[in-house]
Amino acid sequence: MSLYGQVVLPRRQIRYLFILSFGLVLFIQFFAIPKVVLSVSPAEILPQLMTRSIASIITLVILVVINVLLYILRQEFDSRQEELQKFVVELDNRVKERTKELEISKQQAEEARQQAEDANQIKSQFLANMSHELRTPLNAILNFTAFVADGVMGDVNEEQEDALRQSISSGKHLLALINDILDVTKIEAGLMDLFIQPVDLSEVINGAVSIGKALAKDKPVQMITEIQEKLPTTYGDKRRLRQVFLNVISNAFKFTKEGSVTIYADATDTHLKVRVTDTGIGIAPENYDMVFESFKQVKNDNLEVVGTGLGMPISKYFVESHQGKMWFESQVGAGTTFFIELPILTEEQANTL
Ligand SMILES: Nc1ncnc2c1ncn2[C@@H]1O[C@H](COP(=O)(O)OP(=O)(O)OP(=O)(O)O)[C@@H](O)[C@H]1O
Ligand SMILES: [Mg+2]
Repeated sequence: MSLYGQVVLPRRQIRYLFILSFGLVLFIQFFAIPKVVLSVSPAEILPQLMTRSIASIITLVILVVINVLLYILRQEFDSRQEELQKFVVELDNRVKERTKELEISKQQAEEARQQAEDANQIKSQFLANMSHELRTPLNAILNFTAFVADGVMGDVNEEQEDALRQSISSGKHLLALINDILDVTKIEAGLMDLFIQPVDLSEVINGAVSIGKALAKDKPVQMITEIQEKLPTTYGDKRRLRQVFLNVISNAFKFTKEGSVTIYADATDTHLKVRVTDTGIGIAPENYDMVFESFKQVKNDNLEVVGTGLGMPISKYFVESHQGKMWFESQVGAGTTFFIELPILTEEQANTL
């Protein structure tokens, strides 16, 4: 029972008991003691008068005792009620204090969130500008180096050409990295736009596969393709979809020392399903969460891997921005399979992405 119930209810009951016992006293006074009727002889009335009077007096005494007890009880409850009132006032003050404290901390949290958001926005803007500023001169460097390597600006010997081709390869790697950073920053800042156009899925997937073939060249890794002859045309961002398949295929080769990489693609009228299975190092369950997190790479002692850990989060973003799904299954030492499912979209549907 609540404190209120413990104090106020019995107090009320005491009042009723008081009234009841008072009523009983009155009743005994006026009705219980028999009236003396003169026509009846004293010998007849006396014993009756005696017993009834004694009973009435005993009842009266009991009632008086009960009333005294009730009075004491009432005093007790009165003091308890006072305590209760004090307690309620104190509680009320404490609630007010706590509410004020909560409001202050809510305000502080909101300010901190706003500051973090502003800082993040500044960081994103800075990275986007930086990446943009870096890409332009880097492209110029790559183009001029290619001119020189191709002998457009005069003869180069074999050794010089070799060095120039290595510069180009490193430059391209750097460019890819800058592009990935730019993508992630745009995604985080909510500024990533899709360029919607018809996408011939056969062309996109086979294009990614032929780049994969080049990756398989220097390794004892066999490339197996199970690609449906004619895949449908969908609408979406062609360059971004190509980037997704390339990322997954190049990862499969990157994380496989020997064995095979199988690329499977199949489509219905409504969906495209792609699977890339490798026989590589696999991913331990405790590292599953890292795969789609930006800048996270699983450490592996058996394989020296280059990269920044941006390919998968970017790919997942693009698959989902085309209303698709991307996930993987993996077993350490046995290999990994990445799954990509994309809906076949009409132009109107794609324009709402
Ligand atoms: N096929 C795979 N087999 C084993 N591990 C994989 C595979 N694909 C991805 N991973 C794990 O997920 C991590 C994230 O992949 P992601 O493609 O984002 O980064 P990366 O390939 O290391 O670098 P980047 O793609 O930016 O060059 C990888 O570092 C690797 O640990
Ligand atoms: Mg990668």
